[in-house]
Amino acid sequence: MRNLLKFFRIFMLVLFVAGASLSFGANPSVPQKDGKQYAEVISGNNALIAPSDRANPKIYGGPEVEAIKTWGIDSPNSYGFGEIFTLLQGHYFSVIFGILIVLVPLAFLGHFMVIGQKKFNHGKKIRVFSSYNIFVHWCAAIPFVALCLTGLVMVFGDKLGGGGFVRFARDVHGIATIVFAIFGVLMFLMWFKSALPRAYDIDWLMIMGGYLSKEKKPIPAGKFNAGQKMWFWVCTLGGFAMVISGAFMFFQFSDINTLRMMALAHNFIGFLIVALLITHIYMAVFAIEGALHSIIDGHMGEEEIAILHSYYYKEINAA
Ligand code: HEM
Ligand code: HEM
Repeated sequence: MRNLLKFFRIFMLVLFVAGASLSFGANPSVPQKDGKQYAEVISGNNALIAPSDRANPKIYGGPEVEAIKTWGIDSPNSYGFGEIFTLLQGHYFSVIFGILIVLVPLAFLGHFMVIGQKKFNHGKKIRVFSSYNIFVHWCAAIPFVALCLTGLVMVFGDKLGGGGFVRFARDVHGIATIVFAIFGVLMFLMWFKSALPRAYDIDWLMIMGGYLSKEKKPIPAGKFNAGQKMWFWVCTLGGFAMVISGAFMFFQFSDINTLRMMALAHNFIGFLIVALLITHIYMAVFAIEGALHSIIDGHMGEEEIAILHSYYYKEINAA
């Protein structure tokens, strides 16, 4: 009952925050030009306004943006991260994201075909996740997946035809950020102790978690193995870094060079997040038969724990 009340309170908070941001997003007073929204216009940074009168005089206006599009190495008028940002943003980021979303799934397809699924006896089951764990996992995971999908829509925005669809993805990206920011913190608090590094994690890494062999030998891992721990830190701390760099891009409350740094960080951490999310889904859905059930009904087969989480199994038996 107390858990139910807790869930209800969190839900009401999320509904309130999402409602408030939706009404903000639909604000008809946001200036539009040729169907596009101009951040410079919104914050008084229109190029028609003299730099000294702009809300943020260090952010460029329309004509400067046109000139920047031709920047390369050693461009005139550029300073700070101007050139490197223009080069990476204009030519490389979308290519790297494209390579990642093709190559990572292909590598796992190869693993699935060569090594195949690990199968365990589904006889006796042990409860490993509480209802609260499951609830928080999905409330953080759903907006997080939405962030990655809508982020990719923005990255490939021009190839997808731009316009309303990409602007909609951008709005969803913003709203999903608020939901993730709340549940990401709850996820961090609930699992960080189990994700602290231990000496046996090195052994796990040395044998690549046993995923390259078909043998069923006990693997050195606690409640979470080293790979899962890595995912935990990337999706929580990396996720918070994405919230912060995203907030800089949304509110534009810094000078242009800091903005570029934030956009660069958003993309670099984005690579890691997209690659590891695909890995996480592969491990949960395909690599181990029935593994997904643990995060749906909280139970895991005893044999799977004894083999894949051997130190955790010893802990449970000792308790
Ligand atoms: C469709 C997407 C997803 C599926 C099917 C899925 C499934 C699972 C499963 C089965 C587990 C339990 C693993 C085990 O202990 O054996 C788990 C754990 C976990 N999930 Fe997800 N998950 C998904 C998306 C996400 C997302 C987007 C996040 C990030 C916010 C996330 C964060 C975690 C974390 C931190 C853990 C605990 C550590 C770990 O097992 O890696 N999951 N998930
Ligand atoms: C935890 C994950 C993430 C969070 C919290 C997050 C948050 C944000 C926020 C708050 C913004 C500013 C939104 C706006 O200007 O309207 C933003 C912008 C952006 N994000 Fe993310 N993001 C995440 C993941 C990603 C990923 C994985 C990608 C790429 C695949 C991505 C690509 C982008 C792009 C391209 C923009 C620029 C949009 C613009 O020009 O306004 N994001 N992000």
